[in-house]
Amino acid sequence: MNPRAAAGRAVERGMRALLLALSHQRFVGRIATRLPFTRPMVARFVAGETLEAALPALERLRAAGFRTTVDILGESVASAVAARAATGAYVAAIPVLADRGIDRNVSIKLSQMGLAIDHALVRENVGRVLTAASAVEGFVRIDMEDHATTEATLAIWRDLRPLMAGSGDVGVVLQSALRRTPGDAEVLIAAGARVRLCKGAYREPPEAAHQDKADVDAAYLAVMRRLLDAGVYPAFATHDDRIVDAAIAYARERAIGPERFEFQMLYGVRRDLQERLLRDGWTVRIYVPLGSQWYPYFMRRLAERPANVFFLARNLLR
Ligand code: FDA
Repeated sequence: MNPRAAAGRAVERGMRALLLALSHQRFVGRIATRLPFTRPMVARFVAGETLEAALPALERLRAAGFRTTVDILGESVASAVAARAATGAYVAAIPVLADRGIDRNVSIKLSQMGLAIDHALVRENVGRVLTAASAVEGFVRIDMEDHATTEATLAIWRDLRPLMAGSGDVGVVLQSALRRTPGDAEVLIAAGARVRLCKGAYREPPEAAHQDKADVDAAYLAVMRRLLDAGVYPAFATHDDRIVDAAIAYARERAIGPERFEFQMLYGVRRDLQERLLRDGWTVRIYVPLGSQWYPYFMRRLAERPANVFFLARNLLR
């Protein structure tokens, strides 16, 4: 790598670390969410501050042929009251999605349901969401948070999955950044789990996670192939052209059709790629976040592509 490119990479790594560190600063988040000028910047990544406000975006996506999953933003709640309120929001939203003919598919975070507060509380709350989804034959995806939560998340998925037996399902997420992921993939394949594979959005220590992007990408490709061969309708969550192209090439080679797996992308990210894949006949699900607790989610999106910060700054100055 020439010195200029190496310096560029170092700046990008530094910005990424700074943005991820800021994503944990509740105080900054509280200020940011109250400033009126932040709203238009966030609108690119967040479909609305309420379900009602996000419904037109969800309906537009459905009309265009996309599948969707709804994320009611919020994470790392600090009280049982907040965890129950977040759970209630999902329990209320699921029948609305079903009534509107929108995918009955939601993505939840365990830290939003009280994981850091009490294990009994989080199980009770997740149980309520799974029961609500099961009533409409829906699907619940448990997002994966940082590596300290992986074990608990997989255990809760395993223990509560029977709540949806026979009506809908609940799936989990694996992060190719984590060193443990190939082993987890085997366990989940054996259990017939529906897995979403992503690279991992959190800052992790070297003992738990690959630090080099090339290693994260190589691990992604290996687990992706394994899931295509043996998994149950895996989902490949990425905006990375090289990975998308590799998935398509591998699926074609093995005559694995679009009904056997899906691509997933975030609302507002790489719309060109989302549309191209749809046009080419692949199944594409858009992860649609909504709600007012957008700060940590938004900061992780900036960290994934620090150039977004300059883009936002330019718009602000205008
Ligand atoms: P990579 O970061 O290498 O980016 C490839 C290209 O995509 C970039 O060059 C850029 O063009 C574009 N791009 C990526 N991110 C962008 C952004 N924010 N803005 C603009 N362009 C961008 N993580 C996690 O830890 N737990 C989880 O449960 C989930 N769930 C999840 C669901 C879905 C549907 C998606 C798409 C992603 C997640 N993630 C996640 C996030 C994931 O781990 C990862 O951080 C991001 O997807 C970015 O990685 P890429 O695979 O897109 O590749």
